Amino acid sequence: MTSVDAIIERLGATRTCDAGLTKDPWAFDTTKPSYGPGASALDLIPRNAPRQQPLGKEYTEASDEELQERIIDAKHELGSKLLILGHFYQRDEIIVHADYVGDSFQLSKNAATRPEADNIVFCGVHFMAETADILSTPRQNVILPNMSAGCSMADMANIDQVTDCWEQLTDICGNTPDTDGKQQIIPVTYMNSSAALKAFCGRNGGIVCTSSNARAVLEWAFERGKRVLFFPDQHLGRNTALAMGMSLDQMPLWDPFKANGGATPEQYANAKMILWKGFCSVHQRFTVEQIERARKAYPGVKVIVHPECSMDVVNAADGTGSTAYIVKEIENAPAGSAIAVGTEINLVNRLAAQHPDKTVFCLDPVVCPCSTMYRIHPAYLAWALENLVDGKVVNKIVVDPQTASEAKIALDRMLRVHP
Ligand code: 13P
Ligand code: SF4
Repeated sequence: MTSVDAIIERLGATRTCDAGLTKDPWAFDTTKPSYGPGASALDLIPRNAPRQQPLGKEYTEASDEELQERIIDAKHELGSKLLILGHFYQRDEIIVHADYVGDSFQLSKNAATRPEADNIVFCGVHFMAETADILSTPRQNVILPNMSAGCSMADMANIDQVTDCWEQLTDICGNTPDTDGKQQIIPVTYMNSSAALKAFCGRNGGIVCTSSNARAVLEWAFERGKRVLFFPDQHLGRNTALAMGMSLDQMPLWDPFKANGGATPEQYANAKMILWKGFCSVHQRFTVEQIERARKAYPGVKVIVHPECSMDVVNAADGTGSTAYIVKEIENAPAGSAIAVGTEINLVNRLAAQHPDKTVFCLDPVVCPCSTMYRIHPAYLAWALENLVDGKVVNKIVVDPQTASEAKIALDRMLRVHP
């Protein structure tokens, strides 16, 4: 296997990242609210973002080995009443305990197919746990081991901002259907969004999408509407719309921090896709220069990237798709091939270790992990599980019934388009 260090050397990169990553995540539980060290540290966290209560010393001072044993013991005790879901971006020390590992779309579906599990422990981020709560039965508990595992992109659009945008856009575009019966604007939210935004889509004729079904969902939307308002990730929206043949001048941005969204009423009236100005701090770090460097260092390398990367990066890559697509591409690549990947480092390093006959590396080998996924440390998982063994449910994620039922309308529409 080619070691990460050898790849870093060949790419001419340096091994530097955020110094905060050397600290344990509980170092941030008592500081001012932040996304923590790493990729999204510079983004502003909403004032009302959930906070994690500090863990006791029996967790923060336990050795890695002890924590692993305690997780195994608790899991054993809880048996089939427990379901642990692990997103691809989680640390390996968490993934080893997951009953299912997958992308956000696969995991949400898994949550819906295990009604016998009393407790679903979601090792991922907040919006994923909310979705699992919506799709699971009312008697099941969904638990997020660390409450401050949010998603900086999901936090870039809140319900007040989206409602304000919607009112302004309906003033411009009207809110009565066209002569052909099509709605003026269909709201489409990426899975990486709060339950409140999914509910907004549910009650306004809209739908949810993930990175694995964005194109099919947009086709559904354009059968029913003249325009789409797509939030919160501008890049997934732009990359998908470009692949469907739309042009950049049909895709004005809506910036919630600019008066009237920042573009002219004519631009919004003539738009096909109105893109919310949100982004993923992890995927926005990948650049065309990194792709060029990889191609130079590894002639013949295949470059695959997540569609949350910018348009220039997606255009310069050989393939783009969800984390599930990236996993499949690497599995199917012939032995001896080199694959450079533009997505989160935990997943890429795991894929590299699982495929020692191939050279798999991150386009930016020094990229920080997703700082909020990183918040799920084994100490929090052990804490959540041991509390369950004691009959206590901690960090339960509850979506209120009205929001959940409207959000489910938008999620069910997605599941009918792309089962
Ligand atoms: P997937 O939908 O591909 O799992 O991606 C989720 C995510 O957060 C990507 O940054
Ligand atoms: Fe959010 Fe980006 Fe982390 Fe995914 S990788 S959870 S979009 S911050």
